[in-house]
Amino acid sequence: MSAEETLAQIAKEVAVCKKCILHESRNKSVPGEGPANAEIMLIGEGPGFYENEQGRPFVGASGKFLSELLAGAGLKREEVFICNVVKCRPPANRDPLPDELSACNEYLDRQIETINPSIIITLGRFSMGKFMQGAKITQVHGQMRKVGERFVIPMFHPAAALHQAALKPALLADFAKLPELLNEARAGLGRSTPAPKKNEAPKEDPKQLNLF
Ligand code: URA
Ligand code: SF4
Repeated sequence: MSAEETLAQIAKEVAVCKKCILHESRNKSVPGEGPANAEIMLIGEGPGFYENEQGRPFVGASGKFLSELLAGAGLKREEVFICNVVKCRPPANRDPLPDELSACNEYLDRQIETINPSIIITLGRFSMGKFMQGAKITQVHGQMRKVGERFVIPMFHPAAALHQAALKPALLADFAKLPELLNEARAGLGRSTPAPKKNEAPKEDPKQLNLF
């Protein structure tokens, strides 16, 4: 199966999944979207009202803010894979519960394995918790860490910054640092484009070229 087919298969399973109680109140499940070979994966918390209506991640107010944050860092929304730790909307946007997180974790793990991103940006404390158990987001936000073969950058959730104005400057500053962190991560993974030798055309790495 190609990576695209595997992601489509996961989405098909999520659409009929009844592994946790969130299936009872969902309208549409929200598996996530983006290129199957994305270098960067963003993981949020769970679908909200509009996501539950449309079946797509980050399409409401926090999605608009996220697109702006990405654009500010030189990234297009279409070139990153965006998903959530739970694929169905928690009622009234409450926090996902531990048994819901563990029930849904399998889908996220398969998405990560399939896409194999170099860099994972976590949005909010629930997706941060998957990679950095016990970390406090107020202490580690914006700080990149190597987790296994990947780099993980924990960020505040855009919705949190919309609701608590005090968090907004930190989120803006963390995204402003993102281009630098991405280059650091690529260098750390030996993926920085080598300087061209004399009389040699620069090698084009399509994954890196259109990023900045
Ligand atoms: N908040 C999230 O965490 N995810 C979404 O998809 C939308 C809002
Ligand atoms: Fe299944 Fe995840 Fe939806 Fe729960 S949130 S029903 S585990 S897809």
